This record gives sequence, structure tokens and C-alpha cells, in this order.
Amino acid sequence: QWGLNTSWLGQRMYYEPQLDSTQSLAHKLALEGAEHGTVVIADEQLKGRGRLHRKWDSQKGKGIWMSIILRPPLEPQRAPQLTLASAVAIIDMLASQVNVKGQIKWPNDIFIQNKKVAGILTEMQAEQDLIQYVIIGIGLNVNQTAEEIPEDLQEIATSLQIETEQTWVREGLIQNLLKEIESVYEEYVQNGFGSIKKRWELAAYKMGDWIKVKAMRKEWDAKLIGIQNDGALIVEDTDKARKVLYSAEIDWNK
Ligand code: ATP
Ligand code: BTN
Repeated sequence: QWGLNTSWLGQRMYYEPQLDSTQSLAHKLALEGAEHGTVVIADEQLKGRGRLHRKWDSQKGKGIWMSIILRPPLEPQRAPQLTLASAVAIIDMLASQVNVKGQIKWPNDIFIQNKKVAGILTEMQAEQDLIQYVIIGIGLNVNQTAEEIPEDLQEIATSLQIETEQTWVREGLIQNLLKEIESVYEEYVQNGFGSIKKRWELAAYKMGDWIKVKAMRKEWDAKLIGIQNDGALIVEDTDKARKVLYSAEIDWNK
């Protein structure tokens, strides 16, 4: 049905018409021993979730609601880099299949023209400094029309249909997305985040622009400079002093 051309990603696939959340089913499957590369997809989610316990609007047939089970040979502290790597894969898929230029809003949002088209939710189970499994959740808005975007998201969310004025067959996008994720993942695991860093920076939202950073109990204006080999964001303040951020709240509209 999916015409996959991957070697391991998605070779085990669970496709459900309706789920509370693909993340929840993926966790359950992973705990039961599901293999590396298992993919869960739902047509509709009743309790789709985003970061920080936010809800993720997942209307029936309108988007790609997908969770991927990975068992990477990495230290737990490197798991956030998988979010960054997945973002690069989404950007490549959007460029090659949809012919749109997406941007990565650090750490986990994909934007098209200042609006969010996709989000990534990475969750990890680790024990004694070993990753048991990682679930990469991807929500990509595909076929919503402007009217179908919920009222509270009108200003901030978009879909491929809205941006390109055409509808998209999700299967084709999923096939290519899994291919891209597989290849970026392999590159990343073999050679580290440094090997995909340039691609990440080329796609970064507000690169070289001024933003407002809230971190380490301070708040300051800074310019976005780049990203380090370990995935930390590099910013430069008004005195040209550089700081690296592993986690921070950012006001992008400063
Ligand atoms: P809170 O408890 O913080 O109020 P909430 O469950 O009310 O959480 P909101 O904070 O209103 O959720 O969630 C809004 C967020 O939803 C936005 O930041 C946006 O990223 C996100 N969002 C949800 N679904 C989508 C979607 N399909 N496309 C784009 N953004 C979405
Ligand atoms: C975010 O931007 O906060 C992340 C959104 C992640 C949404 C996806 S949809 C598939 C998977 N299942 C969920 O419940 N959430 C993720």
C-alpha cells in the first residue's frame, strides 16, 4: 500500500484509522519489544499531543500523524539531536516533493513563511545511561484548507494545501519522508550531527536575525549565529559575546 523504498524504516508499519495518539501506541509497542524502525500512522488522532502538554490538532485525513520507534546506539543526552536530524529530513522532503522551502524553527518546528506546518515531538526511554528506545512523533499539516485550520491556530498554523493551493496524496509524501529520515538518520549515527549541521543551518528560521533569548534566568537580545556539532544553538549578544544554548525560550518576533 505504501510502496516503501526504505531498507529498514517502516518495514514494520501500523496503520490505524483512529487513535488517541500515535505516540501512545508507539510507546506501548516499544515496551513490548517492537523493533527499530517500526512506524505508527493514524488517519485521525483524538488526543494528539505536542510539546509542553499542548494539544495537536489532528483532523481525519488532513495530515501525516506519525510516530517512529528508534533504538539508536547513542548516549541519552544525544537524543535531542534526533529532533534536529528529523527536521532536516522533513525540509528535504518538502523541497523535493512539494517544491516548498520550509524553515526549521529551533528546536522542533517546521515553518513555511512564518507559519507552522509541522512539529516534532521526541520522547525517550532510557535506563542506566542507555537509550532503550526513542519515539519521534511527526505531525505535518497537509490538506487542511484555510477554513479547516482551527480558529485559535489561524494566525500561527498553515498546511501544504494552503501554501501550494493543491491537495497532496499523503502516501507519496510519507514514502519519501521515511526515505529521507532513514538516510539522514544513518548519516547522523555514522558521522555525528556535525555532518548534517550545514544542512540544518541552511534551513534555519531567522538565521542571522535578532531574537530575544530567555535562559539562565536572564533575558536578552541576541543574533542567531548557528548551531554546534552537539546541537546547541549559538547566539551572539549586542556586545558580540557568544553563548551556546542547549535549552531556552526564544521570542522569535523580537
Ligand atoms: P495550554 O495548556 O498551554 O494552553 P493547549 O492545549 O490549550 O495548551 P495551546 O497552547 O493552545 O494548547 O496550543 C497551541 C499550540 O498548538 C500552538 O503552539 C501550536 O504549535 C500548536 N498546534 C496544535 N495543533 C497544530 C497543528 N495541527 N498545526 C500547527 N500547530 C498546531
Ligand atoms: C509540537 O510541535 O509540539 C510537536 C507536535 C507533534 C505532533 C505529532 S502527530 C503524531 C504524534 N502523535 C502525537 O500525539 N503527537 C505527535
